[in-house]
Amino acid sequence: MKTIKGKGIHQELGSNITNLLFVTQENSPIGSTLPFVYEKGLWKVSSTFYKSLPKKATFDRLTRCSVVGNSGSLLHSNCGKHIDEADFVYRCNAAPLKPFAADAGTKSNLTSFNPSIFEKRYKGIAKQSSLKKFVSDMQQYHGYLWGACFSGRSTLDLCMKAISGYNIKENVFVLAHPYHYKSFHDYWIRRGKKKLPSTGFYYTSDALSRCNETHLYGFWPFPKAFDDISSYNVSYHYFEKLENAWKEPHGMNIEFSILVQLHLLGVVKITMENVN
Ligand code: CDP
Repeated sequence: MKTIKGKGIHQELGSNITNLLFVTQENSPIGSTLPFVYEKGLWKVSSTFYKSLPKKATFDRLTRCSVVGNSGSLLHSNCGKHIDEADFVYRCNAAPLKPFAADAGTKSNLTSFNPSIFEKRYKGIAKQSSLKKFVSDMQQYHGYLWGACFSGRSTLDLCMKAISGYNIKENVFVLAHPYHYKSFHDYWIRRGKKKLPSTGFYYTSDALSRCNETHLYGFWPFPKAFDDISSYNVSYHYFEKLENAWKEPHGMNIEFSILVQLHLLGVVKITMENVN
């Protein structure tokens, strides 16, 4: 695999892009404003909000990264060990770790958390018991739990409510920086990809800006297996059964064709199964 230093992304988005991964004291001083991603309006950084932020988001250049997508194709892949061999592991939407260790590994450095999970798994954290369950479930992750909280005002409120009861040593709950998302979205729009990037595609783009090697697992946005002899069904997620999930809004099949092209160019490495 080619060693790609993400030079193109840096040149186009500016080298500071890697420090904008989440909202910090460094990138969001008191009095500055942050836009919402899907709504009009700005969030003004107050001194209380500022004090709740981590100081900065500076990471050393990484040698090898794994980005773990959530496709059911990961099941029986035996990729867990490979995934965990990376220096840095990206995971999507708080996928449960231990029950899938053999196929998906357990190492976690940056795990996305879509606030819709508050509704789906934690009843909108309306009760103390669901807040407690949320906090207890999140203890399995290390590094950063990265909440896409700036989609709108009510989402941010929900995140703030969850964070106020969040005091665990395993990870830090951080707020995804809206400019970071927008920069990568625009980067791909300029290359003809119009739909909103899926989390896995977005994390792959981020990995290209900070990792020498980017390895992808669990990317297969198709309901049938690659092996057309057995042609078995592939679930949308490896850890849960979902209704209507294939009507996803990101155009993942187009993203997948971009990822395959990057794989053929040696920019990323897609692994479907561990043959070792
Ligand atoms: O947050 P989002 O809806 O984008 O993602 P998800 O369903 O939690 O899955 C995480 C990522 O895995 C997606 O963003 C896709 O990039 C990838 N994925 C895939 O390639 N094939 C699937 N069947 C499901 C997810």
